Amino acid sequence: MDYCNRGTHRPIRSFVLRQGRMTPAQERAFDELWSLYGVDWRPGEPLNLPDLFGNDHPVNLEIGFGNGETLAWMAEAAPNLNWLGIEVHRPGVGHLLLEMEQRGLENLRVMRQDAVELLTLGIPSASLDRVQLFFPDPWPKKRHHKRRILNPRFVEILARVIRPGGIFHTATDWEPYAHRMLEALTAAEGLFENTLGPGSFSPRPEYRPLTKFEQRGERLGHQVRDLIFRRRG
Ligand SMILES: C[S@@+](CC[C@H](N)C(=O)[O-])C[C@H]1O[C@@H](n2cnc3c(N)ncnc32)[C@H](O)[C@@H]1O
Repeated sequence: MDYCNRGTHRPIRSFVLRQGRMTPAQERAFDELWSLYGVDWRPGEPLNLPDLFGNDHPVNLEIGFGNGETLAWMAEAAPNLNWLGIEVHRPGVGHLLLEMEQRGLENLRVMRQDAVELLTLGIPSASLDRVQLFFPDPWPKKRHHKRRILNPRFVEILARVIRPGGIFHTATDWEPYAHRMLEALTAAEGLFENTLGPGSFSPRPEYRPLTKFEQRGERLGHQVRDLIFRRRG
């Protein structure tokens, strides 16, 4: 698949890369830990997931993990699963590398990539057990809606990489985006079914810890909605 009309148009990305300040500890994490936990990837080269983890346990992938604390917690709680985190924000990646070192996690790998590009060009079909996308940037202004990662095209990308019976789990505290997400996933009726019943959102399941962005939303009085869909097959 051509990724965002490469060569003809500038791709519309779901993020704007902020430099962000790295702490000395995060810099050290990149120097010392990237070779252990980080994954370098060149567009077009499919990842060999069993090689990456040294086993063929089911793979859970998190997109846009922020500071990575939720992901580290979930990976520690499920040591028999493989976890792959993708984030573009360098300080967040450094933060997660430090968490991994502290917790001694063996079942988590980290990538610093645009997840849309990676899913389109690097993840083999039906290779993921679960994809989680917690609190994607809501891009509230109308002129920015085109930047929202969860749109009908992204739902098709997810349908290719998630195995039949696998799960896509997302959550947002931005009500209008929650409804657009529900519409996009419901429209792909032949590909995904709502595990909560048609048209339904869920409260946060117990296995999902509060994320940093979610806590900010709660302080602002936002209601959080989870959406959990199963890949048909
Ligand atoms: C609003 S934050 C939420 C972070 C975290 N999930 C949380 O709930 O605290 C969204 C994150 O997604 C990342 N992001 C956005 N688009 C991305 C993409 N295409 N690939 C990887 N990361 C992306 C951003 O850098 C940002 O850290």
